[in-house]
Order: sequence, then structure tokens, then C-alpha cells
Amino acid sequence: MKVAIAADHGGYTLKESVKKKLESLGLSYHDFGTYSEESVDYPDYGILVAEAVARGEYDRGILICGTGLGMSIVANKVPGIRCALLHDTFSAKATREHNDTNVMAMGARVIGPGLADDIVELWLTTEFSGGRHAARVGKIADIEKRFGRDAGIGGC
Ligand code: RB5
Repeated sequence: MKVAIAADHGGYTLKESVKKKLESLGLSYHDFGTYSEESVDYPDYGILVAEAVARGEYDRGILICGTGLGMSIVANKVPGIRCALLHDTFSAKATREHNDTNVMAMGARVIGPGLADDIVELWLTTEFSGGRHAARVGKIADIEKRFGRDAGIGGC
């Protein structure tokens, strides 16, 4: 599994810690930045991961900012991305089983590195349940189509 990861300045330290977790799991990842605690704009980094996952270059994406909120909003603007904002292990497992999420976001000002590691491991190792959940995820794709290029909104 190939993982894309990015953070803003608020998530930089937690990103560095999550990278160690990915290494301990034997997973390859690409770090799209940011590379310091200097202030940056979270949309500039969230979009890099979301687009790379949407293009199929990476299987999963992990985004970290202060709250996780901004990053999750950015990622969910990209067609094909289903991003979950995660701060507990129950939701990490449930969103993989039910929503087949391909990107997850966390807030470094909300949780600590130990819980973040548990969430990341569970989210990366839980399979999608399929079945009735696949039909529901299909309905999300239908909604995306209604508001996407096919509907003449946002396209050129
Ligand atoms: C940066 O101060 C902060 O706004 C950002 O990290 C994130 O929490 C936005 O949603």
C-alpha cells in the first residue's frame, strides 16, 4: 500500500510522528510537506495529497492540521475523495468498513501521538465491508456527478 501524507504548520510535528508509525508498519509513503513549523496555508498541502490519491498514484492519504477540519474540507472537494476526520478508534474502523474512505484527517491540537498512531494503524488495516455499504458509497459518487463537471459547475 502506498500512502501520501501532508500537514500544515499546526500538524507538522504530528506528521513526523505518524511517519515513524508508517515505517514501523513497513509502509512506503511520500511526504508532500510542509517541512517545518513555519506558517503555511493548509489548502495548499491538502490538495496535493487529495489529488494524488484521486489520480490513483497513492492508495491512501493522511492529512494533519491543527484541528483536521480544514484539511478534511479541502480533501472532500476533490472528486473521488472520501475523507474522514478522525479522533477516535471506533470511527477509524467504522469509516473504513462503511464509507471506504481513502483519505483521513486528524487535528494535532486535538489528539496526542499515541492515539494518532492507533487511529492510523486501524484505518490503514481495516477492509471495506462492501455489500449494502458499496451501494451507499455509490450514491455519494452519484451526488458528486450531479455537482461536478457533468452538471456544468466548476468545469471549463
Ligand atoms: C492553522 O492555524 C489552523 O487554522 C489549521 O491548522 C487548521 O486547524 C485549519 O482547519
